[in-house]
Amino acid sequence: MTKKLWGGRFTGKTDPLMEQFNASIVFDKQMWRVDLSGSQAYARALERAGLLTAAEAEQIVDGLEQVAGEWARGEFTIVEGDEDIHTANERRLTELIGSVAGKLHTGRSRNDQVATDVRLWLREEIAHLRRHQRDLIATAVERAAEEIDILMPGYTHLQPAQPVRWSHWLLSHVWAWQRDASRLDELAARVNVMPLGSGALAGNPFAIDRVRLAEDLGFAGITYNSMDGVSDRDFIAEFLFWAALTMIHLSRLAEDLIVYSSHEFGFVTLADAYSTGSSLMPQKKNPDALELLRGKSGRSMGQLTGLMATLKGLPSTYNKDLQEDKEPLFDAVTSLSGSLQIACGVLSTLAINPPFMRAALVPEMLATDLAEYLVRKGVPFRDAHHVAGAAVQMAELQGIPLSELDLTDLQKLHGAFDADVADVWSFERSVERRDVDGGSSQRSVLAQIAHLRTWLAGG
Ligand code: ARG
Repeated sequence: MTKKLWGGRFTGKTDPLMEQFNASIVFDKQMWRVDLSGSQAYARALERAGLLTAAEAEQIVDGLEQVAGEWARGEFTIVEGDEDIHTANERRLTELIGSVAGKLHTGRSRNDQVATDVRLWLREEIAHLRRHQRDLIATAVERAAEEIDILMPGYTHLQPAQPVRWSHWLLSHVWAWQRDASRLDELAARVNVMPLGSGALAGNPFAIDRVRLAEDLGFAGITYNSMDGVSDRDFIAEFLFWAALTMIHLSRLAEDLIVYSSHEFGFVTLADAYSTGSSLMPQKKNPDALELLRGKSGRSMGQLTGLMATLKGLPSTYNKDLQEDKEPLFDAVTSLSGSLQIACGVLSTLAINPPFMRAALVPEMLATDLAEYLVRKGVPFRDAHHVAGAAVQMAELQGIPLSELDLTDLQKLHGAFDADVADVWSFERSVERRDVDGGSSQRSVLAQIAHLRTWLAGG
């Protein structure tokens, strides 16, 4: 039987199932690199505090690098008793360099070690995710710029509402992603503080220089209360919220595109690279990529809820419940990384079908413009709205499109109608009339693109 790192006071054997139940190595092994870097920096801190000689520190740092090499080459062997990545690395270090390895954990606890490792790990993952999110935004912005002249129906309640630019629709999603990206930057700053030196809960007794240690590990600062340092998982909860909201935003894009790619709409065609067929119906081309984005958003919300439930009733400082923070975190990172890249792939390869979008624009979608025509003639909006509604009904009764009502018929509804009412029946003009900042006119959409390009240039 291998000796347990915490085995001193225990005489009985651990139930084998308990061994498995307690272990986190199967999932936390992916933190091997940051665990080793954290330990190397900690060995240097111990050396500076006079607890390790220069030679001992050197031996430990080199030994840890050898362990890193084994992980990198896929040669590290997990053995019975390797409860988690921290115990596994230390066990291997001991095998490689002998008893001096036993000095590494001086003043440290796995409680401050794990809290530090997760932050180091997440910090790197956030940098990757941030790049994927930026790529997605850049792809959509360039697409919006290229296809600015395309018009499509805008919907509320999924009912045809008013004409908009396809780019305006696309950018409506981009703005949500841009907020997600800034939220990620904000939370990244809270991830990047170092709990190491908090010990088990009461602080490190050996006067290590935590500020210097934090600098060595690239942390922007240190945590200021050791009890908080070992128990704080806010940064994970916050990250999972970010992940859930980001997934919700991708899911909403996905839902729009699933609807727009249906036979009935036909506005867009998903590239073969992101669709699959049916094993039974040969004609089928299914938007699986989009459905998975939509589906994964549910799982992401569950992870946030799960972690919050884990945290809510915990007594102070470290409790083993906290080991349950990693699987949802790791899964959320994997899922987000894939989702952001898939969304980017889908958007950059999507074919659009402007004639179908055009065909879906019906004159009734200009009923609001008809009311606005009257407003411009001095009619109060409430009356104008009523008259335009009566016009819609009249056209319906005559079985013709709203735009084909005779001027004389319109004049029966209101005296302010004139021959220039013909100008109302243009989708382009309707879109261009919405020329406020944030509107769907070409100028407004170009302004959005300019804002986003400036933002992208800033990082
Ligand atoms: N594997 C543990 C975790 O992930 C490491 C910390 C263990 N600490 C302890 N006191 N048992 O939380």
